[in-house]
Amino acid sequence: RKKVTIQRLQQLRTQNVPITMLTAYDYPSARRAEAADIDICLVGDSLAQVALGYSSTTLLTLDEMLYHCRAVSRGAQRPLLVADMPFGTYQLGVRDALDAAVQLVQKGGMEAVKLEGNEEIIPHVRALKDFGIPVMAHIGLLPQRHASLSGYKVQGRSAQDALHIARSAKALQDAGAFSIVLEAIPSRLAAHITQQLSIPTIGIGAGVGCSGQVLVQDDALGVWAGHKAKFVRRFAEVGKEAAKGVEGYALAVKEGTFPAEEEGYAMDEEVFERFKK
Ligand code: KIV
Ligand code: NA
Repeated sequence: RKKVTIQRLQQLRTQNVPITMLTAYDYPSARRAEAADIDICLVGDSLAQVALGYSSTTLLTLDEMLYHCRAVSRGAQRPLLVADMPFGTYQLGVRDALDAAVQLVQKGGMEAVKLEGNEEIIPHVRALKDFGIPVMAHIGLLPQRHASLSGYKVQGRSAQDALHIARSAKALQDAGAFSIVLEAIPSRLAAHITQQLSIPTIGIGAGVGCSGQVLVQDDALGVWAGHKAKFVRRFAEVGKEAAKGVEGYALAVKEGTFPAEEEGYAMDEEVFERFKK
């Protein structure tokens, strides 16, 4: 199986073969993505909530992101490796964005970066691309702006908002983005944008008419018992199984049924007697 490149993603788009993208935050989740032949592995800043227990992605630092990127790059080689630019690493300007993106490549082992935003990130996209760091844009619902958006809500439902999103998509493509994530926008708007563009769109809560799909791996595996967004499908119930396992272990230790004799190491009786003397 060959390494996934940007050119390969373009091929998949033109051949109408859906692109698979999934988040990974550590070595085992990266190994799972690789084993399932996932095309794009995203070290999403959703790791703030899912793996680190923060209340928002805005609390995640670049150093924390780098630590997780390194683990993912040890676990997955074939997928295209993309990292989110953490909140605060690109708002102050293009120089900061370049500095952070270079670290994600050099220290994190990433191949591309993802940035949330509309026309305001165009200079960043252009500069990163010019210096050889591929950029994936992310439009529609922007989780890093949950406060100014008053929550995590579907975007682009009015004609005016839809037009803004569609224009952003086109402008980000023209600035050099190699792909665009469309989050939580109406399916028919996402399909329309996908038709208008010549780069692959990756949807999350954006319907089947995108060039590919992305989910948070922990959501797809049911690691959480918490809130499930409308667009999440649970492909496994890992959380329930894991809870069962931990309860079973604790009970067996308390009952004295773990470990059993065959789970221990034997010692020759005679040797033991000699030792005691
Ligand atoms: O952080 C993340 O996991 C993401 C994807 C859900 C697109 O940005
Ligand atoms: Na993200």
